[in-house]
Amino acid sequence: RRKKAVVLASAFLFFLLQSSCALRRDQFPSSFLFGTSTSAYQIEGAYKDANKSLSNWDVFTHSQEAKIKDGSNGDVAADHYHIYMEDVELMHSLGVNSYRFSISWSRVLPRGRYGTINPTGVAFYNNLIDSLLLRGIEPFVTLSHYDIPQELEDRYGGWLSPKIQKDFGYFAEVCFRKFGDRVKYWSTLNEPNFMVINGYGTGDYPPGHRNKQLIAGHNAILSHATAVEIYRKRYQVKQQGKIGIVIFMCWFEPLRNNSLDFLAAKQVMSFHVAWFLDPIIHGDYPPEMQQVLGSKLPTFSIKDRRKLQYKLDFIGINHYTSLYVRDCSVPPCNSSGSIDESPFIYNQRNGIPIGKPTAMPQYYVVPYGIEEVVLYTMRRYNNTPMFITENGYAQHSNSSMTELLNDIDRVDAIRQYLTYLNNAMRKGADVRGYFVWSLIDNFEWLYGYTKRFGLYYVDFNTQKRAPKLSARWYQQFLHGVEVLH
Ligand code: NOJ
Repeated sequence: RRKKAVVLASAFLFFLLQSSCALRRDQFPSSFLFGTSTSAYQIEGAYKDANKSLSNWDVFTHSQEAKIKDGSNGDVAADHYHIYMEDVELMHSLGVNSYRFSISWSRVLPRGRYGTINPTGVAFYNNLIDSLLLRGIEPFVTLSHYDIPQELEDRYGGWLSPKIQKDFGYFAEVCFRKFGDRVKYWSTLNEPNFMVINGYGTGDYPPGHRNKQLIAGHNAILSHATAVEIYRKRYQVKQQGKIGIVIFMCWFEPLRNNSLDFLAAKQVMSFHVAWFLDPIIHGDYPPEMQQVLGSKLPTFSIKDRRKLQYKLDFIGINHYTSLYVRDCSVPPCNSSGSIDESPFIYNQRNGIPIGKPTAMPQYYVVPYGIEEVVLYTMRRYNNTPMFITENGYAQHSNSSMTELLNDIDRVDAIRQYLTYLNNAMRKGADVRGYFVWSLIDNFEWLYGYTKRFGLYYVDFNTQKRAPKLSARWYQQFLHGVEVLH
């Protein structure tokens, strides 16, 4: 009898353990969007096909200044432009109900508003959108994911000029008109915070300017507002969609357990996140930035403020890492704006890394970080609906094929991130979707093809795709199979 009791007790314990550790699709609302994410320049290739003009990234990657690790570019990338149907089928087999991708501005409007609409470019996105919808996959579309037509750069310096606001509004309107009958989720910009820090702060991304991130950011904020105003006034009622913006959001943790570091960490969140979201949602730059930067911070005119009242419908969060922050008592701490160069941002404490390292130098797997950024956003922005528009895990391309395909570390990372995301939701956060970056391996900006983020492996010589373990895992999860962590 005792033996039987022991067996029963352990079976019960095992059951308890399993149900408390398991992650299930049905812990998320049935309307929750589960998808994968990509961007035009990183996967499409076809950089000169059918009247597409050169984008800032096309020109940059071909120039001497580009410090791309493997000297590569996105000319061909994963050739998605030609084989997109195959990629739609991959998503269909995964069982995702949504797909986040971006539109190449220079494919649709090769010369911005100084030329005509390119019908072949429009046709490509029409076909993609229609194929997705046929398979029950909701398109979740980004208007600009770092890339802009080079002509706008040459004419007036891209994001440095207020002229970009009108151009961006024009591009957005063309997209609403051509695709808005079927696209119900629009993001204006992908990670404008990261984009301007790199392109206009450190100069590592095109167009390679330094210390001009505040003005570039200002124009990006107002370009978002221009597009939202157009959508609200002319399209939203009829098309019944939602419009938001996507922000790169690390979690910043105090390095030491003292109030100075605590305040410093809060300040860094403001300088990276609230920098964009406060003006769009609360109407002005965060008080923390105003205090430190004073008159260096651009100001919003009455006309700008009128535009900003259109705000947004959702916040997109791209989350990859957490980092430590240590107080630096001489403000402004963050004048260069660069995460890599800031002397007061650390990736380790007493020699111990903040989380599990990945193939990306500043990306560590810190699962609770996703809960923290979501709760931060919930509190600061009155629980505006949120989507995790990107979260993922990088591998080194030079790992063995077995390691690349048997990506158990990616499975672990995603599974844990989803668990902590679920915690945030149980605490009341209005999160409506989650997208894995990325569907397929692709061009990782300055790292070229040396990093792989895909659920599917891509052989860039043959363009063949092969599912990694993580693809099978995501598929099982989406099909309701319990997955342990
Ligand atoms: C965020 C960017 O939006 C995406 O383009 C990039 O590939 C991922 N981070 C991974 O670094």
